[in-house]
Parts: sequence; C-alpha cells; structure tokens
Amino acid sequence: MERRWVELLFKRGGIMLVTKQAVFKRFWYPVIPTAELSGEPKPFVLLDQPIALWLDSEGKPAAVEDRCCHRTAKLSLGKVVSGNISCAYHGWTFNSSGTCVSVPQQPNGSISGNYKVKSYQACDRYGYVWVCLGEPIAEIPNITEAADPNYRQIHEFYEPWNCAGLRVMENELDMAHPTFVHTATFGSEEHLTPDVMEFTETEWELHYRSVLGVANPAEQQQNLNIEQAETVRTIDGIWFLPFTVKLRIAYPNGLVHIIVNTMTPIDDSTSQMVQFCLRNDTESEAKTSDIIAFDRAVTLEDKRILETTDWDVPLDIAQEQHMLTDKPGIIIRRKIAALLKAHGEVEQTKVS
Ligand code: FES
Ligand SMILES: [Fe+2]
Repeated sequence: MERRWVELLFKRGGIMLVTKQAVFKRFWYPVIPTAELSGEPKPFVLLDQPIALWLDSEGKPAAVEDRCCHRTAKLSLGKVVSGNISCAYHGWTFNSSGTCVSVPQQPNGSISGNYKVKSYQACDRYGYVWVCLGEPIAEIPNITEAADPNYRQIHEFYEPWNCAGLRVMENELDMAHPTFVHTATFGSEEHLTPDVMEFTETEWELHYRSVLGVANPAEQQQNLNIEQAETVRTIDGIWFLPFTVKLRIAYPNGLVHIIVNTMTPIDDSTSQMVQFCLRNDTESEAKTSDIIAFDRAVTLEDKRILETTDWDVPLDIAQEQHMLTDKPGIIIRRKIAALLKAHGEVEQTKVS
C-alpha cells in the first residue's frame, strides 16, 4: 500500500509540537535569572531559536538572535562593551535593537544598514529576564504577591526537563497524583482525591480552587510551623496560557506558600523549569535552605514521572483516558486547541 494511504488509515489528530505552532512565539517566557547576566552574555534556546542575552548600559535586558550577521558565529560567545554585545570573532558590535554600531576594522567607514541581527523584546520581572519572540498577545503573568512586602521571594529551580510544558502544567493542578508520586514528601494515602474542585476560566487563565488533605513529614512540620502529621491545603491555582502555573497553598495556621512555575519551551521535547516561591513568613520561622530542600524533593518526585510521558501531547482528549480529577488538564487542552484555532493554526497530526 502506498505510504500516503497507510498514513491516512492510521493517522490520529491533534497533537501539540510547540515549535510548530507559531502562536507560542507570541507569549512571554522567563529565560534566565537576571542575576546570571551581570557579567558576560549568555545563550538560551527558546522555541528552537538560539538567542544571546545581556544587560545594556542601563541594566535593561537585551535579546538578539545568537548568530552574527558577518560569519554566523554565536554572539553569546562575545562580551558586553558599553552596554552593547561585541562578537568574539571580529568584534562587530550590536546594540539591543540588533543594529551594528561598531566595525573595529573600519573605524572611519559608515556602517551598512544590512549589518544587523534580529532583536527580541525582553524585560526584567520577578528577578528573571522574560523574552517574547514575536508581537505579544498576552501580558507576563501577574503575580500580585511578588510586590507585596508581606511576602518574601525565594528563587528555587532553573534547569532543563525532558518533557512538554503542558504535562507539567496539568500535573501542578492534578490533585490525584500526590498520594502516588509524593510518597516521601506530602502525599497522603487517606486522601486520594481533593474535597473541593471549583473552576473559573478567563480568556488567558484557568482558576482552580481545591482542598486536599496532605501528610507532614518532620522537616515539613518545621517549615510549616505545624506540629501535626496531617494537615489540609487550600489551593488556589492559576494556569496562565500557555506554560505558567501559580499555586497559592494556604495552611490552617495562616501560612501561605506560593509556587510560581514556568516551563519555558526550549524545543518540542525539552522545557526549562523555572520556579520561585513566595512566603508570608520570615527567615527565622523557616530557613530558605530548608524550604528549597523540601520543594526540591517534591519536584524531583514529579520530574521522575513526567520525563517518562510523551512530549507530543495530544490535544484531542479522545487519545488518552481520563478521570474526574483530570478536569484541569482537559480544560488546558481545550483552551490551547481554541488558541491555535483562533490564530488559524492547524494542530499537528500524529501518524502511528
Ligand atoms: S562573525 Fe561576528 S564579527 Fe565576524
Ligand atoms: Fe507533583
């Protein structure tokens, strides 16, 4: 049989490959902690696009394609000179708009307007450089507590994960997995499902309130200032299209622990895990290092599982099986499918 007919017979619809859907280039993503740009330029790959990052003379982040227009060397190998990026190969220097402002070999010659590289919008928020590769269609997720003096911010994780961002987004809102995945941290065998599940959708967000009984191992009792082996979490989660989740976890004693996690898409199968948290307690009540250590154990429990999941995630819900607690993941798939449709984009087709 001709290959085309074989493909038609066995094709399945609706998978998501992030680099194939142009609309994902129109969102902001955190690409690097701003503090890491205090010296030399740094590289990052966002949606398959290599970019070079640095801070200009005013300390504002700048992002350009990581490919010099002279002989294609990586600009991120260069250095920052007077707030511009200078190529390591022949020293051509580009400003944050991507315009070449210096060719050292021709100090008195005019510089051709063709000597330029593509630049991208970049800004500093929550201690990270956020970049948008296209014309933004949504704001950077608004984390109100980041500006609230009652909260302290703790930078937690910045590392690549071998999985699709969507898998992590739905995992954060999946209240049925802690019993099985977080066995060494907070999962409770007594609470297989949440007591409350309430959903509200906006154009760019899904709000999810749930209440879940959890276990408190000794180190977590210290972190939470709760002397009980079990407690209740009231979770107000917000998923921000496409790959940011904020989980506001409130405990009965008034403590609030907010996790903000973006899975910045590197390519179809890899995401940069960027996570910070916000707490309304003080260092003397819970040490930063202890909070990070506990959250580290939790995230490694998730990572172990999530890196085994398919990264070509089906948006068509008929392709995986579901249960009641999967509602957030189903809404996420539906909203992403609607986003693609609204932008005239066709989902990818999986051929099996
Ligand atoms: S390759 Fe960049 S200056 Fe020559
Ligand atoms: Fe988890």
